[in-house]
Amino acid sequence: MLWCCHSAGDLAKKKIYPALFALYVEGHLPKNFSIFGYARSKMSDEEFREYIGGSLTCRLSDGENCGDKFDEFLERCFYQPGQYASEDDFRALSDRLSEVEKEKEKANRVFYLSIPPSIFTAVAGCASTAASSPSGWTRVIVEKPFGKDSESFAQLEKELSNYLTEDQMYRIDHYLGKELIENLTVLRFANLVFEPLWSRQYIRNVQVIFSEDFGTEGRGGYFDQYGIIRDVIQNHLLQIVSLFAMEAPVSLAAEHIRNEKVKVLRSMKKLSLDDVVIGQYRGRSGSGVDKPGYLDDDTVPEGSLCPTFASVAVFINNARWAGVPFLLKAGKALASRRAEIRVQFHQVPGGLYQDKLGHDGDRSSNELVLRIQPDEAIYLKIINKVPGLGLNLDVTKLDLTYKQRYNIHLPDAYERLILDVINGDKRLFIRNDELDAAWALFTPILKEIEEKKIQPETYPYGSRGPIGSHYLAAKYGVRWGDIL
Ligand code: BG6
Repeated sequence: MLWCCHSAGDLAKKKIYPALFALYVEGHLPKNFSIFGYARSKMSDEEFREYIGGSLTCRLSDGENCGDKFDEFLERCFYQPGQYASEDDFRALSDRLSEVEKEKEKANRVFYLSIPPSIFTAVAGCASTAASSPSGWTRVIVEKPFGKDSESFAQLEKELSNYLTEDQMYRIDHYLGKELIENLTVLRFANLVFEPLWSRQYIRNVQVIFSEDFGTEGRGGYFDQYGIIRDVIQNHLLQIVSLFAMEAPVSLAAEHIRNEKVKVLRSMKKLSLDDVVIGQYRGRSGSGVDKPGYLDDDTVPEGSLCPTFASVAVFINNARWAGVPFLLKAGKALASRRAEIRVQFHQVPGGLYQDKLGHDGDRSSNELVLRIQPDEAIYLKIINKVPGLGLNLDVTKLDLTYKQRYNIHLPDAYERLILDVINGDKRLFIRNDELDAAWALFTPILKEIEEKKIQPETYPYGSRGPIGSHYLAAKYGVRWGDIL
């Protein structure tokens, strides 16, 4: 097995190499593996080892010999400089790969295209024609953005399919590699208690919330070409909704799961401008805080209308979900960093205990929360009697906070996903028809927003986002549940 990791970029340094190291320390990488960095900058193997070495860390749970593993791991890392669109340079890479492979009977190759989208096709082409494995399989990991709309996605797919089969392609959405997201199907289908409630009959609304407490600092130029809907909602949040809302798959096979997810995506009601609120953050200073606004970023074009925040109300037109609002919210530079799924159930009919709830009365319906990050947890808000004499009720939690229940380090999403690529498991990777359906939902509304030059509502850095987002929820009788 040979692992060829593409690029020396930021994601590679922060996520991919550390994930590979963690897999190595825990004995998940194949016995014979090598890692090659490939990018345009000139670097020797030694310099490359120094470059990535700084981002590799041992966890407490890795034990004492993790330090030795550090050197062993780096000895297996090499670097080959080259141009992205040069078959000759990829041939040179392939020659080096063959050198380290030569004693192995069968060598597989994985290419991780952690590169700008404009060069996806060129690199996939060069890698597959000049550097694919002569003796084993070749797999290619592709990172978003998968186009900017339906047309560019279709074009990208067409070009990539000249070089790669669907079987070889692993389209990463790193949210699918997060512990709580993988657990979502377990929670639903391995327990008796949730699935019977999992429908319009009991669920009033579902909220999928992503918020970051930092702005686009340093990434403004890139971000401005996409905006928050393309960056986070069209992929991460929609993927979560499709897993949340799908019917039980025939089996746990990747194709069966993805067949069900795509049906959900295809059942979504066409979006209109009334279903969407967009926002953009402004700087905030005073009281010792000095945070720049989105437009203060030098890399952002002057007067940009790019949304750094959006709320979207999505409806799934099928027997299970008709009429249930799925409210998606994502934003940068908000009050806190968190990602959650919140499931709000209907009020108990009859209201037998309503007057005993005091000020909790208006928030008294049950709510199931899956906190994806930080501090992973699943909890169910229930009404409980306050212990003691008298009959006073309050809202409390049945609480499964992972840190308290499982005393283990949770693997990073990239560790799980990279291991799946090695094992050829595509359950957590996106199929092209899923992306096609996701773009079909968002392309018309994105075009309308852009063509009509819709002004994003402004919100202060560190706030809860624009007020319009609360009105959008209120229109469906919903209150966002992420009030701290
Ligand atoms: C990426 C987005 O896909 O996800 C970023 O492009 C965002 O804008 C990031 O910051 C968030 O990932 P995580 O795992 O840190 O929540």
